[in-house]
Amino acid sequence: MAVERKVAVLVGSLRKESFNRKMAVALEKLAPRNLKLGIVEIDGLTLYNQDHDAGPPVCWVEFRNQIRPADAVLFVTPEYNRSVPGVLKNAIDVGSRPYGHSVWAGKPAAIVSVSPGAMGGFGANHHLRQSLTFLDMPVLQQPEAYIGNASALFDESGDISNAGTRDFMTKFMAAFAGWIEKTKG
Ligand code: FNR
Repeated sequence: MAVERKVAVLVGSLRKESFNRKMAVALEKLAPRNLKLGIVEIDGLTLYNQDHDAGPPVCWVEFRNQIRPADAVLFVTPEYNRSVPGVLKNAIDVGSRPYGHSVWAGKPAAIVSVSPGAMGGFGANHHLRQSLTFLDMPVLQQPEAYIGNASALFDESGDISNAGTRDFMTKFMAAFAGWIEKTKG
């Protein structure tokens, strides 16, 4: 039987009706059963300030403590101005410090970008890859998930209504499970 793996999910949007949050929730259902997905909320994080490295606010400490025990990290993010939303970048920065104590190092990761636009958040997806390379996170290369036309993607209960996208995301999560085992092994 496959080993249970804890996956911290970071959603790059704070919007109540966020397509990316809907995607993150849908992925919990589509993932292989040994992957235990849990969204780690980033809306309560204050802005990162290096002055507070020696005496970090409670919200930073709690966030780091939520990421540390995870076997892997899944990023589900919109694109803002061809990059990653500031709230997600802030969470990444908070987790990366103090220097030498990053909570991200070595954790396998995967990225899904979701946009109402046709390009599916390609710019955000690839800007994020740049940060994750520096953070020493091995990122799933294939398949890539740039999910466009999101306004037509979810039904009233938040499930992915398009069978093709549902199948693709099921395969994506299976590939991520395989990637986690490969990098852990
Ligand atoms: C956007 N949006 C957007 N979309 C895109 O495909 N490429 C982009 O560069 C941008 N830039 C951008 C900047 C800002 C400040 C906002 C508020 C929005 C549109 C964006 O994809 C759309 O609002 C999504 O619905 C955001 O994702 P959630 O909140 O639905 O998950």
